[in-house]
Amino acid sequence: MEVTIIVRRKRVFVQQPVAILDSGVGGLTVAKEVMRQLPLEKIVYFGDSLRAPYGPRPAEEVRKFTLQIVDYLLQFQPKMIVIACNTATAVALEEIRQLVDIPVVGVIHPGARAAITTTRNGQVGVIGTEGTILSGAYEKALKSISPSLEIIGLACPQFVPLVEQGLSGQEDTYRIVSECLQQLTESSIDCLILGCTHYPFLSSLISEVMGPNVALISSADETAREVSTILYHKGLLAKRIQKPVHQFLCSGDPELFRRIAEQWLNEEIKVNSVVWQVTRIG
Ligand code: DGL
Repeated sequence: MEVTIIVRRKRVFVQQPVAILDSGVGGLTVAKEVMRQLPLEKIVYFGDSLRAPYGPRPAEEVRKFTLQIVDYLLQFQPKMIVIACNTATAVALEEIRQLVDIPVVGVIHPGARAAITTTRNGQVGVIGTEGTILSGAYEKALKSISPSLEIIGLACPQFVPLVEQGLSGQEDTYRIVSECLQQLTESSIDCLILGCTHYPFLSSLISEVMGPNVALISSADETAREVSTILYHKGLLAKRIQKPVHQFLCSGDPELFRRIAEQWLNEEIKVNSVVWQVTRIG
């Protein structure tokens, strides 16, 4: 299957939305920060919950899914696209930047930069999906800025399904998190990048397991700061009198998505379901 994106050059208006995409609910961690830091921005959010998790999928498949979602989201005429998924950022960010004529932000560089400013001993941990860890994208981003860093990457494939099923608060979850992070608790890292946008849902457990001497870096916070900086510098910050009405779209169970999203965002939302047309991906 091949995906083509056709972009018509148009003027960009400040009231156009910011499009945010993820494999499921994980990108809501970025959306929540964007809503907090930029309360006048309207968001169109797409969660591909039907096909989550992306982490164990081959890179080429994740690339095609990501292009397909971007193609879909362009109908909302966004002024910016945020790939709020580390796995998708690792495989598709550069290509999407070449294909569209609006700013496209990923989640890897913002998280890497924050870790560099946070670490004191130069030993940084990164947790993410298999796809993200195998891609070495964080290692590349960190080393391109600070080559002497020591980096330990660890894939935590159990975490995303827990979050997608709405189980992040369950008792068993602590055991799963601590077993998965054991290698890191025995290391000397002083800073841990949550290299998957789903992981902030588990951040209090991760923090409990890692202890007070390890600072957690959420790429969600840093990415929202990057969105804010770019919109400001491009003169694209929204001007509104009233709070915008955001749009939430998902390809999976809209009810489950709504329940998790409302709990995370602390507000009532409406979720529209999107049924993928096979013809869209050729
Ligand atoms: N939340 C995504 C990430 O940041 C993807 C998780 C998944 O679908 O495996 O990598």
